[in-house]
Amino acid sequence: MSTFWSAWVMFLVVLNLGITFFLFLWAPRVKIPVLPDGTTGHVWAHGALRESVRKLPTWWIGFSASMFLWGFIYLALYPGFGAFKGLLGWTSGAQLEQQVRVNDALREPILQRVRAGTVEALAGDAQVTAIGHTLFQENCAACHGSTGRGNTVLGAPNLVDDDWLYAGDGETILTSILDGRRGVMPAWGGALGREGVNQVAAYVLSLGGSEAPEDWVAAGQTHYATLCVACHGADGHGNPVLGAPNLTDDIWLYGGDFARIAETIRDGRAGEMPSLRARLGEDQARIIAAWVYAQSHAAAGNPPVDSSMDSPDGEPSSGAQPHEAG
Ligand code: HEC
Ligand code: HEC
Repeated sequence: MSTFWSAWVMFLVVLNLGITFFLFLWAPRVKIPVLPDGTTGHVWAHGALRESVRKLPTWWIGFSASMFLWGFIYLALYPGFGAFKGLLGWTSGAQLEQQVRVNDALREPILQRVRAGTVEALAGDAQVTAIGHTLFQENCAACHGSTGRGNTVLGAPNLVDDDWLYAGDGETILTSILDGRRGVMPAWGGALGREGVNQVAAYVLSLGGSEAPEDWVAAGQTHYATLCVACHGADGHGNPVLGAPNLTDDIWLYGGDFARIAETIRDGRAGEMPSLRARLGEDQARIIAAWVYAQSHAAAGNPPVDSSMDSPDGEPSSGAQPHEAG
């Protein structure tokens, strides 16, 4: 602080304290004219109210005096009187540093475990998964739902059912979080036409054992063999390298009714999981991966989440509002 501003602040402090002190001494002594009925003679609200004269209560005077005194003590101990640093040498920066050190000391043992252990091992560490759960709510719930059961509008998969687009081991889950994923399902509406799309959709339904018109299924199978096997496999079990889902297990990214499947085939899909490396860093990503692993592999530790909290079709629950980035 420059000398000028320091002097200016000192001047303001002295002025304010001076005015306060003056009022404090002057107010109790000031003579208010009192009429014989004990009022000042001021009449308010057309005669309904008359202004009485009362002494300041003693407790109020005592309280004000002690506050006044405290003002001096404060200015002596802490920064406030211009550039004077206060006798205690307190600064907000030093206090922050001190609190950060305390916090780091609390975090350190947990972070050491996080850095040393595999995701699978961390999934059994209740302290780590509790933090992971909170971080999941903050960073993932907007898309995957507050209990991790996914969202068929965004194509964000259920993360707690131990069914995976990529794979369910700790390292693969961690890679999904750090680097993101993008599943690309091409659009076939142009190549197949409306009828062809219906046929192959019927065939996809039949793969999971659902009822579908037989002639559509037969024609659909031919289309499937030429257009779809490359990614979804001859038996429809998918391909974890491409993130092409298993079409036979009745678990659906985008919904498993005929209309949704036909829509997927006609228009294609490109579900995108953003890369969260920059936002989370390695440590936090490992902590969240441990929570996801624990939820999806119940044997690893925590019991699975309460499935009654998200609606069954995977719509985002009320807890899954989009979260501000940052
Ligand atoms: C913007 C929405 C969005 C956010 C935020 C998001 N995800 Fe995802 N996530 C997706 C989508 C969409 C996919 C599917 C990607 C695909 O189709 O290939 C996905 C895929 C995944 C997968 C792969 C699942 C599998 O079956 O292999 C994992 C694991 C995952 N997300 C975990 C997380 C975690 C943990 C977080 C928070 C740190 C998170 N995601 C945040 C949208 C999101
Ligand atoms: C280039 C590889 C590729 C080809 C070829 C392909 N798919 Fe896909 N398919 C994918 C991927 C990747 C996804 C996941 C999309 C996402 O993550 O958003 C997907 C998703 C789907 C889904 C949605 C599954 C769900 O769980 O909601 C259906 C249905 C589907 N494909 C059917 C087909 C059919 C039928 C064909 C052939 C006409 C086909 N796919 C051809 C890669 C492919």
